[in-house]
Amino acid sequence: MASNTFGKLFAITTFGESHGPAIGCVVDGCPPGLAIAPDDFRHDLARRATGKSRHTSARHEADEVEILSGVYEGRTTGTPIALLIRNTDARSRDYAKIAEQFRPGHADYTYWQKYGIRDPRGGGRSSARETTMRVAAGVIAKKWLADRHGVRVQGFLSQIGDIVPDTIDLAVVEDNPFFWPDAAQVPALEAYMDALRKSGDSVGARVDVYADGLPPGWGEPVYGKLDGELAGALMSINAVKGVEIGDGFASVAQRGSQHRDPIGREGFESNHAGGILGGISTGQRVRCSVAFKPTSSLRLPVDSLDIHGEPVEVVTTGRHDPCVGIRATPICEAMVALVLMDQALRHRAQCGDVGDIIPRVPGRKP
Ligand SMILES: Cc1cc2nc3c(=O)[nH]c(=O)nc-3n(C[C@H](O)[C@H](O)[C@H](O)COP(=O)(O)O)c2cc1C
Repeated sequence: MASNTFGKLFAITTFGESHGPAIGCVVDGCPPGLAIAPDDFRHDLARRATGKSRHTSARHEADEVEILSGVYEGRTTGTPIALLIRNTDARSRDYAKIAEQFRPGHADYTYWQKYGIRDPRGGGRSSARETTMRVAAGVIAKKWLADRHGVRVQGFLSQIGDIVPDTIDLAVVEDNPFFWPDAAQVPALEAYMDALRKSGDSVGARVDVYADGLPPGWGEPVYGKLDGELAGALMSINAVKGVEIGDGFASVAQRGSQHRDPIGREGFESNHAGGILGGISTGQRVRCSVAFKPTSSLRLPVDSLDIHGEPVEVVTTGRHDPCVGIRATPICEAMVALVLMDQALRHRAQCGDVGDIIPRVPGRKP
């Protein structure tokens, strides 16, 4: 299966299936000297993990990272960094009944048509278990971006169903199981999710990611645009159906006089562009917004066919997320960080000698 590698100068290759013995990745192109230890991965992997609250799947993986190569005495050596996480809580019997069925909303039918064979246990390679390794690789990118450039990448859940936050307070995002930026609404969300789970149905969600502290100049013109690569990276996450940069689809209803961001001595006066112009960072906050579809696996029966073309009724009994967007925040952050680090290294490779250009417009409007 090709296309398991992402990035140009900072490239990751992930491997493994949901119910195989392990998942892993090789991170290639990391500059030497970055301090990395197994502990660094714990925080973000725990944020992505299932089983933390009743609002996510009950599968409970330890997600302990083994660093197999590329790190010596706690520092990256510049050689490929191989990371491995063993699967410890796969229950393949949950999937025996649906092994020959095409679950609507899943990749079962398309993988079957493409490869003529598939690992049905937990969705095999198409499972969001794969995103664990994106988060692990993203930890390295986040750390390098923060250490080297002071760049911070932070995501939050910005919509569940038709509920949106009344206020956005990034300081409270880590204090609740939803990554929700409005603490006052958390009890209402708990009640909403409890009722949803009882009904056996699921719901879609939106995740926003902010990247702050970028210098102007990251990104490449034409085919390597920063916004293009962010959109592709975020779209490659399971269940994503839409990506917006800056004002995104709201731009359709705006006037040019409203959308273009005036530039004054004090800095940009607004940031409808989302921190990117011509595919290159302006130095303002980079804003991405990602739409997740509702979980397809439900207790509610649905019509489908089996691999012999016979009609079947599919009912899912395994462990599933009632809203996949809830655990997606760290995954979106990781994909943004991977793109930014790759672009930063590409910028350094081609334009490292250009130096600081004047005038430098402050990115004062987030
Ligand atoms: C964090 C995360 C968790 C997910 N968990 C589930 C799940 O429990 N049940 C499910 O049906 N789909 C889940 N998905 C979505 C499926 O992996 C995805 O819909 C499926 O592979 C088909 O791919 P597509 O939706 O990208 O076309 C999850 C996605 C993410 C990002």
